[in-house]
Amino acid sequence: MTTTSAPLTRTDRKLLALAAAADRGLAAPMAGFVDLATVREAVEDLTKAFAPLGRVQHTVAAKACGLAPLLRFLGDLGIDAEVASPGETAVAEAAGLRGPRLVLDSPAKTTAELAHALAEGTAVNADNFQELARLDALIGGTPPRSVLGLRINPQVGAGRIGDTSTATAASKFGIPLRDNGNRALLREAFARRPWLTRLHVHVGSQGCPPELMADGVAAVHELAEEINAEAGYRQVTSLDIGGGLPVDFTSDEPGPGFAGYVAPLLSRVPALAEGRYALVTEFGRSLLAKSGFLVSTVEYTKVAGGRPIAVTHAGGQVAARTVLQPDHWPLRIGAFDATGAPKTGPEVPQDIAGPLCFAGDLLARERPLPLLDPGDLVVAHDTGAYYFGAHYAYNTLPRPAVHGFIVSPRGDVEFVPLRRAQTLAELVADAGGEFLGALPAA
Ligand SMILES: Cc1ncc(COP(=O)(O)O)c(C=O)c1O
Repeated sequence: MTTTSAPLTRTDRKLLALAAAADRGLAAPMAGFVDLATVREAVEDLTKAFAPLGRVQHTVAAKACGLAPLLRFLGDLGIDAEVASPGETAVAEAAGLRGPRLVLDSPAKTTAELAHALAEGTAVNADNFQELARLDALIGGTPPRSVLGLRINPQVGAGRIGDTSTATAASKFGIPLRDNGNRALLREAFARRPWLTRLHVHVGSQGCPPELMADGVAAVHELAEEINAEAGYRQVTSLDIGGGLPVDFTSDEPGPGFAGYVAPLLSRVPALAEGRYALVTEFGRSLLAKSGFLVSTVEYTKVAGGRPIAVTHAGGQVAARTVLQPDHWPLRIGAFDATGAPKTGPEVPQDIAGPLCFAGDLLARERPLPLLDPGDLVVAHDTGAYYFGAHYAYNTLPRPAVHGFIVSPRGDVEFVPLRRAQTLAELVADAGGEFLGALPAA
């Protein structure tokens, strides 16, 4: 309970939720938590920042955290979904987001996926000329209900992290704009297809500065103007500007937020303020990262080569990028006792190890923290995007439960289930359990 009448901050809410989760046994051995108020705040920040740009359809990149109840919650707040696989599509549709509330992106859409999207009236961003030819065949002579666009790789270069930079010269995504002859081919592709009305760009994710993202948008805006001038009418009516706003993983503060992107975007492409193009956004990390955190019990502690190590249940299965590329994806780790109260005491460099059977399965290396003991809790902050939804099935470890929470102004915490932990029976089924009887006797 809080004794002050000042509104609870995100950090207050987190501490209250952690204590409540410890008390109610929700954190053991590991679980994810989502502060629904933080999600709501991010949505408000997003819509407010983009308000000066006129008509904007905001979607959440389902890959960032495609939990069905969360997609429904976001949908109720007016956020649609960007989906990139049949699975993401099915989850979003189950959450009530279908038809024009979905945007389908993916470099590997099958004909069946395209046909489904067209039947549903879902927007599609084709990735390449071959996919356009498939759309030609599917559409035939009937004007499609779906908004159809083309993903452009503006080739504006990489951000800080190569793996999440999609606008490099040789990226696998979209049609490379600067490659010899492509500009003319693009103009021709639009001239032949009056139903192509959108250009799509996504320069990359974490590590791409807003200025680089704005360069990508400038490139597709220029191309749209060119296509429209050649058509003699406004054929391209919308620009899908993707996601990619980086998140500050070093503190609990929200950082410059979406306004910190809209300002450089408008200064790079001032014409966007005229509202002649409807916009689509596809943010993932910046919408959700700050709302979530992972909690794991410390199972054992040991000292090896003089280094204290806390063995937890949170490793590469829930934090693959952090474990495999620790320099690019460091996480803030908090140390708490078994009641969820912050641990005190001198900070000692410790490894926070996960349960997987490889030596590099460390959530943090030599991290200065109060010395952890068995039964304590470790918290991996800012994991609301790309951690709960990107499970790595090594060692047949279950996907953990994810709980949403709401904290009342008085400090009472209510948990709402977003996903239950995978059961052992489900793990056996995933491991081919149903085919045990299918093998001939050895
Ligand atoms: C096409 C597309 N749109 C949007 C996103 C979301 O990016 P972010 O989570 O960085 O906002 C991605 C991420 O990979 C993407 O590939």
